[in-house]
Amino acid sequence: MRFGKNLLALEHCGSTNDEARRLALSGAPDGTVVTALEQTKGRGRAGRSWHSPPGDGLYLSLISRLKIHPREAPRLSLVVGLAIAEAIDSLLPSEAPRAKLKWPNDVFLSQKKLAGVLLELSVKEDLCDFFIIGVGLNVNTQHFPEELRQTATSLSLEAKQRFDLSLVLRALLQSLERCIDELSQNGFYALRERWKARSYTLGQKVSASFEGKGIVGVAVDVDPDGALLIETDAGERITIIAGDVINLVKD
Ligand code: BTN
Repeated sequence: MRFGKNLLALEHCGSTNDEARRLALSGAPDGTVVTALEQTKGRGRAGRSWHSPPGDGLYLSLISRLKIHPREAPRLSLVVGLAIAEAIDSLLPSEAPRAKLKWPNDVFLSQKKLAGVLLELSVKEDLCDFFIIGVGLNVNTQHFPEELRQTATSLSLEAKQRFDLSLVLRALLQSLERCIDELSQNGFYALRERWKARSYTLGQKVSASFEGKGIVGVAVDVDPDGALLIETDAGERITIIAGDVINLVKD
């Protein structure tokens, strides 16, 4: 396994994404991984923070030097979510519900968020120099703060058992390596079909932000670039390349 061969395992840090970025800038190879048992400044998307208490979760950042054009980055974003969902399924009993995906890459179990991804990109001369793929996965968390209690879950709460963090890390890195290699060798087509089969977003009424305005419509498809297509009540199709969507009606 290439991913994780070069591993920096920290007890605590501010954000593993910041540590990985520092390593990437000093030339760390593709597949380098930084983990921490605790983050004091765990970052989420859109300026949010990521709850990162000691020992219960997996907080990791992977350096990818995948050679793609920045406009292809949204595909990688979806592929990372898919890789996490496939790893989760491999860790849970076969009768457990399947991990689902909320566009672009939030991983849900039983309608609650289990994992999130913060993908950061460094561009050099119009090409991607490196990606920092930050993954936060709730593994053995038993109690969430009040504001997350209704919306977050952990592997342990779902499967009613504790998990060995190193086994979860291994499964995750294996799956990330397999899916990212598949993207680079075979393209996005089959990965997109697998993403769609797990979607928590498609067919749902959603709201999203587009050109600074809020729009509401039905999420109808993910296009070959990884963008989300939303059809408004007026029948207009809008392409959302980046950002967050909110499911207005649950499954
Ligand atoms: C989100 O859903 O908003 C993304 C959360 C990403 C959290 C992970 S934890 C490891 C890495 N380091 C960070 O500071 N953030 C990511």
